[in-house]
Amino acid sequence: MIRIALTKGRIEDKAVELLGRAGYDVHELLDKGRRLLFNVNNNLEIVLAKSADVITYIEHGVCDVGIVGKDTIMEQGRSFYEVLDLNFGECKFALAGIAGQDFYAGYKQKVIATKYPNVAKSYFNDKGLDVEIVKIEGSVELAPILGLADGIVDIVESGATLRENGLAVYEDIARISARVIVNRASIKLKKREIDEFINRIAEEILC
Ligand code: PRP
Repeated sequence: MIRIALTKGRIEDKAVELLGRAGYDVHELLDKGRRLLFNVNNNLEIVLAKSADVITYIEHGVCDVGIVGKDTIMEQGRSFYEVLDLNFGECKFALAGIAGQDFYAGYKQKVIATKYPNVAKSYFNDKGLDVEIVKIEGSVELAPILGLADGIVDIVESGATLRENGLAVYEDIARISARVIVNRASIKLKKREIDEFINRIAEEILC
């Protein structure tokens, strides 16, 4: 038996569809109501959780395999193995701000608003630029409009949220997509079961 932590929300439907195509009986997940735990094919247990919690459950070893966005992986650290890119849930991290403005103009320390302070910190560290980071919980696009920040580091998918609020991408930071992660001990202790699971879904992605 292996336990899979699956991120609720944006990537859930595509992940469930992928499991179905790989031959797993996912009918309970398609009509799940408020349930959070499911037994599939007698050898998988699927747990639905928020993305940051998927990583917590994998790192603590209470789940063996996780399906989670690269955005959360980049923000939350990585004491686990990232083994497969599922190529869905695609979007990007970008530096954005008021359209038409030059982010690097002037000598004042820049202020960056973001839901992803670690991603922003590491991006500007790599550039050797000392910025002030302000953590925002949602609708980060408001921060430059309200004059709180010179730029935001955020997820851009269609670009509509930026466009409709007069903002634009200044720089792409990283490609994001759904990934499969595995607990460090499970990869050895449950090697056969985990290999079988990964191979079954990898075959479907390659089709
Ligand atoms: C994300 C992100 C952007 C938006 C980008 O927010 O923070 O605001 O989606 O998508 P787009 O490029 O397709 O417009 P989310 O929907 O998760 O809401 P939140 O800002 O309240 O966290």
